[in-house]
Amino acid sequence: MRKPIIAGNWKMYKLVAESVATALALRPLVANANHCEVIIAPPFTSLKTVADRLEGSNIKVAGQNCSTELKHGAHTGEIAADMLRDVGCTHVIIGHSERRHLYAETDSMVNHKTQAALAAGLTVILCVGETLAQREAGHAEPVVRGQLEGGLRGLTSNDLARIIVAYEPVWAIGTGHTATPEQAQEMHAFIRRVFAERHNEDAAEVLRILYGGSVKPDNVVGLMEQTDLDGALVGGASLDAETFAQIVHFNL
Ligand code: 13P
Repeated sequence: MRKPIIAGNWKMYKLVAESVATALALRPLVANANHCEVIIAPPFTSLKTVADRLEGSNIKVAGQNCSTELKHGAHTGEIAADMLRDVGCTHVIIGHSERRHLYAETDSMVNHKTQAALAAGLTVILCVGETLAQREAGHAEPVVRGQLEGGLRGLTSNDLARIIVAYEPVWAIGTGHTATPEQAQEMHAFIRRVFAERHNEDAAEVLRILYGGSVKPDNVVGLMEQTDLDGALVGGASLDAETFAQIVHFNL
């Protein structure tokens, strides 16, 4: 019922030529992947070229961030959500832990970005996740609840259809220490419960919750077997087309 999503977050990697080469290598490798949606998030500078070259394929393109402001104006260095739409994006990643921790993004900013992205017609991949210190202090669930409630404040039930949540425990990102399937399942079930409480059971039932943090071809299967795990947001392992394609084909 929930179609899985395998998304690749390229972060601040790849010049335009490298982005195009990776995207074009990926295209035939995932052309028959009907069991899931495939999304890649190249850096801003590659978005237009990559989206153009992927036209007619089953690979969708996402931005990695957008401005809190939708109205064009004097915001040096910012990219408005409709600018992402304009260059061929269907999705945008918002509230990634690197944005929260390295660039001091707050839940309120995440909320404004989410509202702007929805207003521009994008689907939002909202990232949440606790740090190791927060987990060790027993605060993982309240932290994730706060990020969800803060990020989704004021959204209507119509908006929720264009929200995807990515649970990315900070301690698992880029560290090689992936969460165990059981740890991931526990938090995914919690996220679905919070969604049901705050919104409604139907929205919670169809919500797709991706796991991110050191997902690789050899651990994706165990993760995807979990009931509440509906896909993956892949960093490092998405940079190579063949490796990412193996993750996309987790079902084979
Ligand atoms: P890694 O897969 O490199 O751990 O990164 C995960 C991530 O941050 C995806 O958004």
